[in-house]
Amino acid sequence: MPVHVVEAVGYQPATLRGHSRPLVLSLADGRLALTKLKGNPQTTHALVADLVATRLGRLVGAPVPEPLLVHVPTARLRDIPPLRSRPWISGLQYGALYVGGAAPVQLATDAAGLVNLHLLPLAALFETWIDNTDLKPSHLLAVPGSAGPSLLVVDHGHALPGAPRWTPASLAAGLADLPDLRALLALHRAAGRPFDLRPAIDTCMAVSDAQLTELVADVPREWGLPGSHAESLLSFLRRRRPSLPAWGAALTRRASV
Ligand SMILES: Nc1ncnc2c1ncn2[C@@H]1O[C@H](COP(=O)(O)OP(=O)(O)OP(=O)(O)O)[C@@H](O)[C@H]1O
Ligand SMILES: [Mg+2]
Repeated sequence: MPVHVVEAVGYQPATLRGHSRPLVLSLADGRLALTKLKGNPQTTHALVADLVATRLGRLVGAPVPEPLLVHVPTARLRDIPPLRSRPWISGLQYGALYVGGAAPVQLATDAAGLVNLHLLPLAALFETWIDNTDLKPSHLLAVPGSAGPSLLVVDHGHALPGAPRWTPASLAAGLADLPDLRALLALHRAAGRPFDLRPAIDTCMAVSDAQLTELVADVPREWGLPGSHAESLLSFLRRRRPSLPAWGAALTRRASV
């Protein structure tokens, strides 16, 4: 399914401290998006990582936010006050559906009550696949819901070796790199639930080359991703996939101690 494009119509004040200077923009469809813009200090390569990784996460069913492309017309850069503060570039931006009331998971009080704990092994395997090098506790959010809080893993701008300024060379050199999963495994231990990775391995291995190709091909042309980078990104995802069963087995061993 192609990525959804929505126009930004305003903003919502929010205290966010991200290095990419994200803003919460209100959208024409009435929703809010944590938006990372072209011209951000982490470059459009971080937007590519965020978009491709988060879409892959949604494809496998990992607990990641819905990714969007947020269209910011040139006039809007003047109409929306916080957009005047930096030399942002109009056009398509990366957005993640913004979830109000979300806060970092507190291990002692929240972990055991998360309603989607069964997705923890899938989250760990997916984040391993994309080598998310920024899986810190503040990126593991508890989202309030009527049935109880659920886990949401945010910020995939630091997926891929060499992030956020990844290159074909950094992807090749980091082909076997593994991310730091301590925050996710701490959550698993605090929750005290079994860690069965087999369904997650089956799900990730079932993603086809055609699906991966489409994810990379859908990166907006205006983000200026060179063809060599797109090819390397596709090859990185394809070439890591066969390692997932072995990495998953190692993860299961770590999770059980
Ligand atoms: N979809 C979301 N819904 C609610 N809050 C979010 C969402 N995405 C991110 N946040 C919050 O906003 C903060 C900043 O977002 P994010 O981490 O994506 O920005 P960043 O610029 O990439 O950060 P970093 O400084 O880690 O590079 C997150 O730490 C999290 O607290
Ligand atoms: Mg962050």
